[in-house]
Amino acid sequence: MKKIILLFSLVFICIIGFTYLNGSSDEPVYIPPSKQRTGNAAKGYEYLITGDYLKSGIPYRLFKMAFSKDTAFDLNRNGFNKTLPYQFNAVKAPNGVVVVAPNCLQCHAQIFEGKVVVGMGNSFSDFTTDRTFQAVMVERFLQQLKNDSGKNMQAAKAFITSMKAISRNLVVPTRGVNAANHLAALLIAQRDPATLKWSDSVMIKDVGPNIPTDVPAWWLLKKKHAMFYNGNGRGDFGKFLMASNLLTVSDTSEAREVDEKFDDVLAYIKSIPAPVYPGMIDKQKAAAGQVIFQKKCEGCHGSYSKNGKYPNLLIPNSIIKTDSMLSAANYSNPETTNWFNNSWFSKGDHPARLVPFNGYIAPPLDGVWATAPYLHNGSVPSLSMMLDSKSRPKYWKRDFNNANYNYTDPGWSYEVVDQPGGSSVYNTTIPGYTNTGHEFGDRLSKADRDKLLEYLKTL
Ligand code: HEC
Ligand code: HEC
Repeated sequence: MKKIILLFSLVFICIIGFTYLNGSSDEPVYIPPSKQRTGNAAKGYEYLITGDYLKSGIPYRLFKMAFSKDTAFDLNRNGFNKTLPYQFNAVKAPNGVVVVAPNCLQCHAQIFEGKVVVGMGNSFSDFTTDRTFQAVMVERFLQQLKNDSGKNMQAAKAFITSMKAISRNLVVPTRGVNAANHLAALLIAQRDPATLKWSDSVMIKDVGPNIPTDVPAWWLLKKKHAMFYNGNGRGDFGKFLMASNLLTVSDTSEAREVDEKFDDVLAYIKSIPAPVYPGMIDKQKAAAGQVIFQKKCEGCHGSYSKNGKYPNLLIPNSIIKTDSMLSAANYSNPETTNWFNNSWFSKGDHPARLVPFNGYIAPPLDGVWATAPYLHNGSVPSLSMMLDSKSRPKYWKRDFNNANYNYTDPGWSYEVVDQPGGSSVYNTTIPGYTNTGHEFGDRLSKADRDKLLEYLKTL
């Protein structure tokens, strides 16, 4: 009898150990906090919109000639930045040439209500075209420049080299979704983990599929113990923030210099408040919605009163049932995770590491009225549909030229269509783009879902 019990418990322990090691438990998993650097938010903002975290780009004069038409939304910057679109910084390359480099606001700002809202994920990104040709054109132009002894080309080289290497593999079928995860993977495939130096040969052959995501709002990070939808960003957040520098970094001494500034950038990101719903709220309805929220949603998403608590939970795929391609890819392609966990980023006084999980973090819902489309892959066009999984359209089309925000059922204007076609149609039948899962509102009555929706507008 004793033997049987012993055997039984051994098997049991093995099963537990196995699921634990795979990160594939069937229960929500708490994410413990990790130590973060502190910094100066005002300095962080200044660095974000003027700083040289990329030190290579398109020479300023060429950029102004060829690309810069739209300066309608500036950030009251001075000097060379004064007439640049807000998504670019003018910076000095190490050889003194002023170049224009993309900044974080390419993906982390959006025009909303006629203003640039820094920290709002850009849901208008366009990764549907291959930009190799532009990079080649810039290269040819610079090669033919006379009387500059190759200085412009030298200042642009790192930028052109990486753009030429990655652009053709970044293309996605739908506008509005972001390919940043794949971009990062393609860059590390050609960089040495210890020195960060670029190599023309690709060292990680299979970096996995190009899985699209929405861009999370920056104002959520202050509550979170881990970064990214997968909750895989652990340890020092600043290290992940500065990883954009992988686009053009020359070596670890440059990375170290840039890294020192990101304690301030993190402080700035943590200082951003969630936007307040500008319309009228039916207070009685919202109060009734809060009661439903406490019962059905709070356990995962936290509470939002003055002493509100956020539980920091990872929800396994077996419970959340949303598209699993993003979390699964972190397992099936351990090479990129291993690269990071053995790289410069994982060393030093404030190390970072990637810890993949078979599921997604339940995000804070502050300002959720403003962050459509919903789910990690942006597959759900409006907020009410998050509460009713059967109502989600298979194909839906956005109007990117005359985009209006709907405040009644929060989301960008869209139209349900009956077939795929063109880059403005979101096709939820493509792997990675599916809109299943998160069925927690499905069994509520329509009246209760309306109440919940009203409450969500108050967060
Ligand atoms: C090409 C687009 C792009 C650029 C440029 C970019 N990001 Fe991101 N960022 C993303 C996407 C997409 C995610 C979500 C990835 C995920 O969770 O899987 C993200 C995630 C983040 C997060 C995590 C938020 C959270 O709640 O988990 C932070 C913070 C962040 N980025 C900061 C920055 C900073 C700072 C810069 C500039 C130095 C930057 N990003 C540049 C696209 C971009
Ligand atoms: C078991 C945990 C759990 C419960 C219960 C839960 N959620 Fe979620 N929720 C999640 C997770 C995890 C995500 C992210 C899923 C993804 O992106 O694939 C999410 C995403 C969302 C989003 C989308 C956020 C965005 O910006 O894309 C909204 C809105 C939301 N939940 C609202 C609710 C409401 C309202 C309820 C109550 C009816 C609820 N949730 C119940 C775990 C939960």
